[in-house]
Amino acid sequence: MNILVANTPQDAEQIAYTLIKERLAGKREFVLGLATGSTPVGMYKMFKQDRLDCSHVTSVNLDEYIGLAPDHPQSYHHFMEEKLFDDVPFKESHVPRGDAPDPEQETARYEALVRSIGVDLQLLGIGENGHIAFNEPGTALDAKTHVTELTESTREANRRFFDSIDEVPTQAITMGLDTIMNAREIVLVATGTRKAEAVHHMIESVPTIEWPATILQAHPSVTVVLDKEAASRCA
Ligand code: F6R
Repeated sequence: MNILVANTPQDAEQIAYTLIKERLAGKREFVLGLATGSTPVGMYKMFKQDRLDCSHVTSVNLDEYIGLAPDHPQSYHHFMEEKLFDDVPFKESHVPRGDAPDPEQETARYEALVRSIGVDLQLLGIGENGHIAFNEPGTALDAKTHVTELTESTREANRRFFDSIDEVPTQAITMGLDTIMNAREIVLVATGTRKAEAVHHMIESVPTIEWPATILQAHPSVTVVLDKEAASRCA
């Protein structure tokens, strides 16, 4: 793991954005794995401000809530349109369908899609409980794209986007740990004290399914970009 610690969250976002921009430059085709949540929002603004050319880039998102159609204001599909795709045209963009009539079939379709196009670089955030995408603690290391029950702590952490906790979906479709590990390169960004414990385990614990992000220690090309607060529990 290559670990970079910036002074501020904005500096961390800038470092991660610059790395992504460098990787996209000069490529005829690129597959970029994207995340939702608060962490990438600043980076997506940089894509917009820079008018970054993504016309050669195919994007694949990590996850989507089950039960929310793409046009639902809290769906990850909608989030991506609002935060990025409406302003920065991509060649193609893929997000799992949260309203698929058969979610299991949708996971198989999405896994096959991700495998067939192959992710060049996957951007990740990390949950306070150490999840990556929606691979919650206890997820099998060889998990492919699957349907997952969201933990109460994850639903609680995400309720800020909803009117009440009851509206936060209980299930999601998520790329699995194995799907993520198949990306050629991974960039994980974490900022703020809330992430410090999960970051400490990701970097310093013996790999364990209790802290899913520890699996990244086994990936050959991971860059972790932190601010000082997120790095505060690391030795
Ligand atoms: C989002 C995702 C999640 C988030 C994580 C951190 O697509 O897969 O794993 O990256 O929950 O969320 P924020 O950035 O809101 O703290």
